[in-house]
Amino acid sequence: MLQFSYSAGTLHAEAVSLAAIAAEVGTPFYCYSSAALEGQYKALDKAFAGLDHLICYAVKANSNQAVLATMARLGAGMDVVSVGELKRALSAGVPAGKVIFAGVGKTRDEMAFAVAQGILGFNVESEPELEALSSVAAELGRTARIALRVNPDVDARTHAKISTGKAENKFGIPFSQAPRLMDRARALPGLSAVGIHMHIGSQITDARLQPFRDAFGLMRDLAIELKGAGHALEHLDLGGGLGVSYKLGNEAPPQPADYATIARETLGDLGLKIVLEPGRLLVGNAGVLVTAVIFVKEGEGRRFTVVDAAMNDLIRPTLYEAHHEVWPVADARRADAPVVQDVVGPVCETGDYLALDRSLPPFGAGDLVAVMTAGAYGAVMASTYNTRPLVPEVLVRGTDWAVVRPRLDVESIIALDRLPDWLAPGQAR
Ligand code: LLP
Repeated sequence: MLQFSYSAGTLHAEAVSLAAIAAEVGTPFYCYSSAALEGQYKALDKAFAGLDHLICYAVKANSNQAVLATMARLGAGMDVVSVGELKRALSAGVPAGKVIFAGVGKTRDEMAFAVAQGILGFNVESEPELEALSSVAAELGRTARIALRVNPDVDARTHAKISTGKAENKFGIPFSQAPRLMDRARALPGLSAVGIHMHIGSQITDARLQPFRDAFGLMRDLAIELKGAGHALEHLDLGGGLGVSYKLGNEAPPQPADYATIARETLGDLGLKIVLEPGRLLVGNAGVLVTAVIFVKEGEGRRFTVVDAAMNDLIRPTLYEAHHEVWPVADARRADAPVVQDVVGPVCETGDYLALDRSLPPFGAGDLVAVMTAGAYGAVMASTYNTRPLVPEVLVRGTDWAVVRPRLDVESIIALDRLPDWLAPGQAR
């Protein structure tokens, strides 16, 4: 995490001290680095130089308007999976013509809105969806461009909950059915079948990127078959999934250049545009979650560092057994002899932890700690469980920083609820 480093005694995001931000906005908060976002985007874009390509950032990874606007200014398109994400992308200034709409369960209302906006295309995941989209587009007198999402039945060798390209997963259309469905799409009104799409999973770190190589090879064969059957293919959408390092310093992350080389070798001669849908790769190591220690509690043979962030703020450790590094914000703490401890939150669940059995400095109450690699699938997966308000998000750019989402307050959470008449104050029991 190049953009997060120690200087003048504290951990900084670019040139801004995380302790200084904490003093102003309180804890916990998410903090993102513009330079890291831009650096990752540019590295991927450069890796694909020479190949006709479009990077459609997967909005689900981090959908803050400021993050989307940063990407949009770099020329990114977006991959969205709901009308909500589509509206976020549009309001951040992304042209509809650069937006791909993916997802296994789009409703007719969502389709109609997206068709009316004139988005770049829909990634279609089933025959019923194909038929529904055809009827929605035809009713509107429009043509929807589609790519079929195929399921290559490839093992992405990642966590079971984020593996999507096996036959038993709910995603995509079996390869064997793709030619028939492309023919069907061609015959239906309101559709223009221009691509094929795959996404085999997330956080793929296999050293040789073999799952991608296998899946791209299958895409190649299918593209050639479909072209042979007269389909006017324009693009291949390779999805996202390239992993990042969560064990900073000890783990070599897969390189965009190697990924691009595989794409070039397997697909480069087909004359088709390559669409990419990276999420985590662009934002994962561009963000941290900063939290403060509330208490340190000595259990029976176990030390618990209780911090003010919890599973509702960052659910990845609980949901995917994910490892996030925990760094002290104060540089001096790093020299202390480490002790084994669990870093846990205040939520009333045993599963509420950020790090288990970790050898870390002996934190004390009031210490600030940074949970690293929290830029992807962090804030977006947060909830208000235990009536804990969503935490602020901060974006840093050089020496500048701004709150890009303020902290919600408890009162506004409570104010979302309504009492039915019979429970209104003053009503007889
Ligand atoms: N395209 C499609 C169709 C996807 O389903 C996804 C992610 C992406 C692109 C972006 O994948 P990425 O490049 O970020 O790996 N919450 C989980 C990850 C879920 C990913 C869902 N789909 C986590 O925290 O690890």
